Amino acid sequence: MFHHDKSKGLHKKKWTVQTKVPVSFFVQFSENLFDPKNSDLLEVGARGPGARRFLVVDENVHKHYGEKIEKYFKKNKIVFALCKIHSHETRKDVDTAFFILKAMEDFKLQRTGEPVIVVGGGVLLDIAGLAATLYRRGVPYIRVPTTLLALVDASVGVKTGINHFSRRNRIGSYYAPVGAYLDRTFLVTLSEKELSNASGEILKMAVIKDKKLFELLEKHGSRLIKEKFQKSSEGLEIMHRSIHGMVEELAPNLWETEMKRLVNFGHTWSPLIEMVALPELSHGEAVALDVLFSCVLSNQRGLMNDKETERVFRVAKDLGLPTFHPLLTDMALMEEALADTVRHRNGSQKLPIPLSIGYAEFYNDVTPEEVKKTSAAMKKRTPK
Ligand SMILES: NC(=O)c1ccc[n+]([C@@H]2O[C@H](COP(=O)([O-])OP(=O)(O)OC[C@H]3O[C@@H](n4cnc5c(N)ncnc54)[C@H](O)[C@@H]3O)[C@@H](O)[C@H]2O)c1
Ligand SMILES: [Zn+2]
Repeated sequence: MFHHDKSKGLHKKKWTVQTKVPVSFFVQFSENLFDPKNSDLLEVGARGPGARRFLVVDENVHKHYGEKIEKYFKKNKIVFALCKIHSHETRKDVDTAFFILKAMEDFKLQRTGEPVIVVGGGVLLDIAGLAATLYRRGVPYIRVPTTLLALVDASVGVKTGINHFSRRNRIGSYYAPVGAYLDRTFLVTLSEKELSNASGEILKMAVIKDKKLFELLEKHGSRLIKEKFQKSSEGLEIMHRSIHGMVEELAPNLWETEMKRLVNFGHTWSPLIEMVALPELSHGEAVALDVLFSCVLSNQRGLMNDKETERVFRVAKDLGLPTFHPLLTDMALMEEALADTVRHRNGSQKLPIPLSIGYAEFYNDVTPEEVKKTSAAMKKRTPK
């Protein structure tokens, strides 16, 4: 729709274009996605003679599943090109994004009809998602997450991005995929450390809005990590609740026009801490530290009681997450981290702070003195 303002004089002619873009994408479990008989992945896009797909696959995933993936497309008579990427947080950059763009160009990817299929962890999904946004101003893409973190978090929203200017995800876009297929059998080849990492994001969701999820983590978390989230229904229930909570928060606020977001929990101080500590801390570990820091802050304010604060720490420990890092006591860094978050949230803190497990409110009045006091309290909790 457009509006032509006829009342304006010759030199001030004005047309206003107004439109709404419908957004629809799915997040769907599909076990054994690359079993040649499973046709889910080929539901969208061209089929039949000459049908093609462009795949972007994480190098480690390729090591374990490359043969299976290639066989899937051969058996289904799909011509494909496979772009293998060594994707690490330290390589989540412009060069990797352009490497993928160049491979798309070499493949002569169509504008629609040949959805790009991205198979990997959160890092690759973010970079390849950005490349999909940029190529021909946007080509469709399908996410196939292969880490627990990507399954429950990075695959659920519409964000893409790369790190730049020494800041996390400083360049990126909101760009909806066609959808995501979640296959938990990928998790068997992940280390326990990788699964712990993901549990940082699940813990975030539990503490900020889902007490039942917290209790499930408390009861089954460490066992599920050992079992790599296979077989048992509790593993699925934890994933489902986590994803459901995320969808519930994202769907009404996909473009983040409302900046009071519960899912920002754990992402106040952690972005800078993670960046400075790289590659020592993974994303989920940094998020977990931020979660614990916020709980201690809440406890110092007399909001979250001692017993619940203790429970959160115990669960974090059970899940193999760190409960302290020296950077949390670097006041200059903590201040800059909060300042950058305030800039990101348009000038006010909008900090989601849990009052109890599963219930939170937003605050704008956290002072440097309070941060310092919280850091000291965190340090005191750490066994020497
Ligand atoms: N877009 C979003 O909304 C969103 C949300 C949360 C996190 N993220 C991003 O996700 C990233 C973290 O993702 P991650 O934790 O998945 O890290 P990652 O993508 O680096 O994967 C972790 C490691 O596991 C390997 N790997 C992946 N799948 C494997 C498998 N099945 N078997 C064996 N090894 C495998 C990878 O090669 C990598 O070495 C961060 O950059 C974060 O910003 C994005
Ligand atoms: Zn995160």
